[in-house]
Amino acid sequence: MKELSLHILDITQNSIRAEAMLISLTVNESSAENNLTIVIEDNGKGIPAEKLQTIADPFVTSRTTRKVGLGLSLFKAAAEGCDGFFEITSILGVGTKVTGSFRRDHIDRAPLGNMADTIVTMVMSFGEADLFYEHNCNQQKFIMDTREIKETLGVTSLNELDILNWIREFVKEGLEEIMEEK
Ligand SMILES: Nc1ncnc2c1ncn2[C@@H]1O[C@H](COP(=O)(O)OP(=O)(O)O)[C@@H](O)[C@H]1O
Ligand SMILES: [Mg+2]
Repeated sequence: MKELSLHILDITQNSIRAEAMLISLTVNESSAENNLTIVIEDNGKGIPAEKLQTIADPFVTSRTTRKVGLGLSLFKAAAEGCDGFFEITSILGVGTKVTGSFRRDHIDRAPLGNMADTIVTMVMSFGEADLFYEHNCNQQKFIMDTREIKETLGVTSLNELDILNWIREFVKEGLEEIMEEK
């Protein structure tokens, strides 16, 4: 995929399909370690152990609408193609954790893409489910928690134009701040 944010979006959709109510997205970027790591963790229904072993192989899917599952295998291939690694762990009935790590300056490493738009798209598609988003860049941290936003606004759904626009700006400005060279 052209942008890592598209992988992120795709993998969170697995979590939603697995009936997760909380999805945690962590992005860690470090110039010193020359590394970009994405972790997506959910409290969905989990994956049986026997299925977990082959889950990131191409052509594995439980869906019937499309013959091949590609989301995880594409993410795995992207990470491994950039001197990184992919890992998936899951506990049935507890949740699933997907990690993709990239050498940050690898020539084939796709750009992260527009995270503000991606977060808004995620929030729109999440229904009642919540998102905890943490982005670390060279010792600087940005955090967004939809549970907190809902509580502050006194609403149960963030699926409203004004709120979504506010979230977009909040993420955009927050990320600009942590990406500044200091
Ligand atoms: N977070 C998750 N929780 C539970 N099951 C998952 C999760 N992620 C992936 N799976 C299972 O692994 C399969 C393969 O996922 P993926 O590679 O994204 O392909 P696809 O979504 O097209 O099936 C899914 O169909 C689903 O059964
Ligand atoms: Mg998928």
